[in-house]
Amino acid sequence: MSGLFENSIGGKEFSIICEEMQILSLQVGKFVSEERKKIKSLDIEHKGSSDLVSYVDKTAEKKFVEGLKKILPSAGFIAEEDHTLKKNEILNWVIDPLDGTTNYLHGVPVFATSVALLQNNIPVAGVVHEINLDECFYAWKNGGAWMNGEKICISKKTELQNSLVATGFPYEEQGWHEKYISLFSDVQRSSLGIRRPGSAATDIAYVAGGRFDAYYEYGIHAWDVAAGALLVQEAGGTVKDFSGGDDFIFGERFVCGNEKIVEELLQKIKIHFK
Ligand code: IPD
Repeated sequence: MSGLFENSIGGKEFSIICEEMQILSLQVGKFVSEERKKIKSLDIEHKGSSDLVSYVDKTAEKKFVEGLKKILPSAGFIAEEDHTLKKNEILNWVIDPLDGTTNYLHGVPVFATSVALLQNNIPVAGVVHEINLDECFYAWKNGGAWMNGEKICISKKTELQNSLVATGFPYEEQGWHEKYISLFSDVQRSSLGIRRPGSAATDIAYVAGGRFDAYYEYGIHAWDVAAGALLVQEAGGTVKDFSGGDDFIFGERFVCGNEKIVEELLQKIKIHFK
């Protein structure tokens, strides 16, 4: 069995696994893109009051599951749409088949697939494919972060005041709406501005690529953030939960950027999330 920080699993290097994940992501992305013109309002279902889903998310997820089984048959699954899939104790694929579903269903062109491989809950390979611009962001443990063949790097801004920050609004409010709005208002005043593109995986990939200087959100799930977390780390950035700890994959509170900007954001989170 592979050790925690080896660069392969079952004799397959992380870089190869990541390459196969990219090929699969592009195939699923093509399906998602082609279905966009065919979808009708009757195809749209509500998972929650503002949480939408359609057959596209579900079919895309099935395509991922089938393809990922071929890449690494021993791994289990943590997926956004099908919670009956079996988890594995050590290795798990984490899938968001369509991050930015609300954008997708409204014709807003920011949505992505996101897939990561976790080993002992640590991401070792991750791919975020933003479908409209056909930008494929990928990383594997100790292999750096990349976008369409170019190495990417976190921003070098040293002050929040000069930083462009992305965030999102969670579907499950958790009674935190007022706190979040007061944090939002503070960050908006203390930064260059805030963006809310509507796809967390894309937001985080953009942080890895230095387009956004930071991103934060709560009520966010492993499938939204697992691939992005590795992208940011491999691009030289920092990922934390809202307490400054490392429970950012499953802890539903996520902040990332370079070390300095994350530190400034954590100070603000501490004030507003008392
Ligand atoms: C959502 C998007 C959105 C974020 C939500 C996520 P989904 O994912 O990433 O930007 O604000 O918290 O749930 O539902 O479109 O896959």
